Amino acid sequence: MLTNIRIEELYSAKLISERVDELAKEIADEWPKEITIVGLLRGSFIFAADLVRALNHYGVAIRMDFLTLSSYGNALKSSGQVELKQDMQDAVAGKDILIIDDILETGNTLHAAMELLKARGAKSVKAAVLLEKPDKLEKAVSASWVGFSVPDKFVVGYGLDYKNYYRDLPYIGVLCQD
Ligand code: IMP
Ligand code: MG
Repeated sequence: MLTNIRIEELYSAKLISERVDELAKEIADEWPKEITIVGLLRGSFIFAADLVRALNHYGVAIRMDFLTLSSYGNALKSSGQVELKQDMQDAVAGKDILIIDDILETGNTLHAAMELLKARGAKSVKAAVLLEKPDKLEKAVSASWVGFSVPDKFVVGYGLDYKNYYRDLPYIGVLCQD
């Protein structure tokens, strides 16, 4: 276990669930009725699980795949180098792709994922992220759907981790080291 750490709640489980439902409705209103989802692991697994079930509620048929990228390691700051740790299962050529990620910070991760899928011939590539840290972008990349704009603090919970801990928190909070 990690010691001397407090988590200050930022978004409750209820607030997150309401926002995820809104995002699914917006995606369903704007996007083709069948999409291939690419969840970026590991951080997006909870958001992706909730979002695809909300999409189902709004009549969107999905196919699911995952891509594991890493830019953080165990640090609190992005290394800027994006590594492909584990590839997808299915081909993406000709498909409409929705990338799901937990948080958009420098944009290095999302940029790398989008370029990879475009290079493989995806018909279209858009992204939905639960969180975005404003003013931190280093790459010309944006997500079409964003849940919340968070302060420039390190946040954990609802899939987001610190040293692979706290992903299981049902809420999102700021990591405070005493
Ligand atoms: P980017 O490549 O700098 O945009 O960072 C995106 C990735 O870094 C996310 O998918 C997260 O895995 C991780 N990340 C960025 N900010 C945070 C944070 O505040 N808490 C936990 N993980 C973060
Ligand atoms: Mg991540």
